[in-house]
Amino acid sequence: MRIQVRARNRAYDFEAADGEKILFAGLRAGVDLPYECATGTCGTCKAKCLDGPVTDLWPEAPGKKNLKTAEGEFLMCQCAAAGNVSAEAAKFVYAMDPGTCLPRAVSGRVAAVRRLTHDVAAVDVDLDEAIDFDAGQYMALETPGVKGMRGYSMVNFARGTRRLEFVIKKKPGGGFSEWLFGGERAGSALSLFGPLGKATFYPNLAKNLLCIAGGSGIAGMMAIVDRACQESYFNQYKGHVFFGVRTARDAFYLDELAAFQARFPQALAVTIALSDED
Ligand code: FES
Repeated sequence: MRIQVRARNRAYDFEAADGEKILFAGLRAGVDLPYECATGTCGTCKAKCLDGPVTDLWPEAPGKKNLKTAEGEFLMCQCAAAGNVSAEAAKFVYAMDPGTCLPRAVSGRVAAVRRLTHDVAAVDVDLDEAIDFDAGQYMALETPGVKGMRGYSMVNFARGTRRLEFVIKKKPGGGFSEWLFGGERAGSALSLFGPLGKATFYPNLAKNLLCIAGGSGIAGMMAIVDRACQESYFNQYKGHVFFGVRTARDAFYLDELAAFQARFPQALAVTIALSDED
């Protein structure tokens, strides 16, 4: 299918496979279409269909709340083209910079699940092919039998890797986390798309580094500190990680953070903040 997206500054043409979400087809082609969650909740990927058939893969997506669907507005991250489509995105859209880690669909399997706390697990995933990603990025992933994709940030940082590490919190009623915590999942098949997200760190930042995260949000910060350590960034710049959790029993990755700190004791500080106890 041929897709044309007319942005405020110019139009982009790209191909989409049968059933492929329009956002993913555009990103895969190097068109930096607007998105944040890529999983149907934020509404950022809104576009207006000007011509052609669009199939809504998740009609109940919460991100549709403010859409004028009667006027043809749809979520590019939840809709596929059922023929050639022309759409309008009322934003400036640019081609991705050379050197960007291009997102794409990959398949993989859960390699291991380790409990980190009573309601948080570390999940290692082995991909069928190697990918590149930047520190701080995330993947959208899904497993057969659980509807919809979820976004999880990588904890590790590596280039050309087939191993991704995630940290996932058990969320009551959350389809994916209920599935993950509901039984033995090693070996389970996953479909992934990514890397996604722009909250990234590059060593040429050349500034001190401040990382603030709560709970499982520490994932992307771990990747950023990992990359900074790999590049000996803290030989020149200072870093401070603030990691907030409710109580001491909710904390995790303390050994890993201590290991980062031990490599650069003069430059890297880590503060664990507890909100519900001293
Ligand atoms: Fe968030 Fe599509 S990017 S709803």
